[in-house]
Amino acid sequence: PPLDEILNLHDFEAVAKKVLPDKAWAYYSSASDDEIAIRENRAAYQRVWFMPRILRNVTSVDWSTTILGHKSSLPVYISATALGKLGHPDGELNLTRAAAKHGIIQMIPTLASCSFDEILDAATPGQPLFLQLYVNRDREVTKKYVQHAEKRGVSGLFITVDAPQLGRREKDMRMKFVEDDGCAKVQDGQDDIKKDQGIARAISSFIDPSLAWDDIPWFRSITKMPIILKGVASPQDALLAYDAGVQGIVLSNHGGRQLDSARSGLENLVGIVAALKTRGPWPNPRFSVFIDGGVRRASDVLKALALGASAVGIGRGFLYAFSSYGQPGVERAIEILRDEFEMNMRLLGARTLSDLGPEMVDASALHTH
Ligand code: FNR
Repeated sequence: PPLDEILNLHDFEAVAKKVLPDKAWAYYSSASDDEIAIRENRAAYQRVWFMPRILRNVTSVDWSTTILGHKSSLPVYISATALGKLGHPDGELNLTRAAAKHGIIQMIPTLASCSFDEILDAATPGQPLFLQLYVNRDREVTKKYVQHAEKRGVSGLFITVDAPQLGRREKDMRMKFVEDDGCAKVQDGQDDIKKDQGIARAISSFIDPSLAWDDIPWFRSITKMPIILKGVASPQDALLAYDAGVQGIVLSNHGGRQLDSARSGLENLVGIVAALKTRGPWPNPRFSVFIDGGVRRASDVLKALALGASAVGIGRGFLYAFSSYGQPGVERAIEILRDEFEMNMRLLGARTLSDLGPEMVDASALHTH
């Protein structure tokens, strides 16, 4: 269908399913084991209800924010999804260019199809970008990569901590990897490539499963970028992260692609914010709590913000948008979200994002299903 008939982010998924080659669809859409976590990511949002306020003069409403100190036109960033060229010949550049045009922030994946420098070269001067890091068994490789990113102006380092081994995404595993799939750049230290176990497993053998809390000071010593741990799922780990001195965490189950039956970020949010409140007032200017997984509507984002999230990541929504329509698809996705923010904030009685609070949602059904 023509792009102007796309009315929401779900529509992109339906188009992507039709137009993508089987292998790309399998890699993008799959989740681990019985795909319970991915299903609950969506379902959890449907268990949170709004309690809107009325008569608040909502003539003008403003949903812009700052993320790690950088302006963002939406309280949403583009989360890292690997291998963009499986979906579209321009791969991740579709996201970079649309993000520049509409003032949102893209997180660049370590396993992007386009090279890191290609993406940076496509960015506009001063465009804020984050980097998602898979930590290499060879720490010198990681150190070079991180320091190069910092030199090129990347403004946040998101270290993925929920993937010491890749989950079994069986739809993907039924496909055979071939060398140029998505132009997957084979990382240094990638030895035992298993070509008969799908794309994800073929390209991820360089990831270091020995990564531990006592590595955090080393990361702190090699970069001045804010460090955020991506994939935190318990109050205990949220407090360890806070006490380790990192600048934030992402509550995520990796889009359901890692530990199956790991609770969704939204379900973990309330308990984790409560735990962090024991360290000081919330929101805390020195610590951000991001969340991702299953977010497809501005209303989802507003629920997460009301419950204490700092900003929200979207992976597949944008991935399916550029897979189906290239850069214009991503722009349309951003415009759709913008329109949804305007309407939902008016109807909620929130003029700015700081008007949102836990009293504007009923999350009591979140854990009673
Ligand atoms: C991902 N995600 C991911 N995360 C990460 O830290 N490194 C990575 O390389 C990837 N790659 C990746 C590929 C694909 C195809 C998907 C769908 C996801 C996880 C991603 O950053 C994010 O956590 C989820 O995508 C959020 O869930 P939704 O928005 O896709 O439902």
